[in-house]
Amino acid sequence: MGYEAAFRIWRGDVDGGDLQDYTVEVNEGEVVLDILHRLQATQTPDLAVRWNCKAGKCGSCSAEVNGRPRLTCMTRMSVFDPNETVTVTPMRTFPIIRDLVTDVSFNYAKAREIPSFTPPADLAPGEYRMQQVDVQRSQEFRKCIECFLCQNVCHVVRDHEENKEAFAGPRFFIRLAELEMHPLDVADRRDAAQDEDGLGLCNITKCCTEVCPENIHITDNAIIPMKERVAGRRYDPIVWLGNKLFRR
Ligand code: SF4
Ligand code: F3S
Ligand code: FES
Repeated sequence: MGYEAAFRIWRGDVDGGDLQDYTVEVNEGEVVLDILHRLQATQTPDLAVRWNCKAGKCGSCSAEVNGRPRLTCMTRMSVFDPNETVTVTPMRTFPIIRDLVTDVSFNYAKAREIPSFTPPADLAPGEYRMQQVDVQRSQEFRKCIECFLCQNVCHVVRDHEENKEAFAGPRFFIRLAELEMHPLDVADRRDAAQDEDGLGLCNITKCCTEVCPENIHITDNAIIPMKERVAGRRYDPIVWLGNKLFRR
């Protein structure tokens, strides 16, 4: 059964903006992105919305719906009461471009700072051999669709522009963990994780895990094991001595 829903959407650009109210038709089975598209088609042709796959796989349509970071293409209208006003705002952690579209280039800059996969020098492409059991742990992290909802929600940078320089964020902690747990990656990423990527600034609030649309256990399976590896290296006296004597 269709109904008319009250929507409140942030409209504006880098110079400022505000929430604007709309009444828009909703039909059975629709998601928030459908409603944004209907608004574009009927009332607000200039509404800026980023999207691509409409299947929860490209990570483009991230926004905040009633204050919660979500993929708008995977947020069913049926989760809201028909009498409730649905408020859609852009991701708060990233600079506004226009309306619901933010500039997420911070994340690409952080991605470039992480040294890429480093196989043993004597192994040529095509000679990589791995057991499934050895790749299982890090495989979970490959599900990331780079929606950056975890980056958006993390309190370390959410209202703290000043921390962005020193903090890579949860998306890149899973990238570090993925490489650190990779059976053929020979780079040691533990010092860089702490000193350059700000692993120590994470105090395990788990907000990132709660919003991940791929249900990646960011905190438990990536961040905490990385913290343990860093701690083991730095504070275990035997490890410390070994590092002093035989540091790679
Ligand atoms: Fe999105 Fe999850 Fe990847 Fe973060 S880890 S960017 S929330 S898919
Ligand atoms: Fe931020 Fe996730 Fe750590 S939300 S503080 S990176 S557990
Ligand atoms: Fe691709 Fe939503 S449009 S994830």
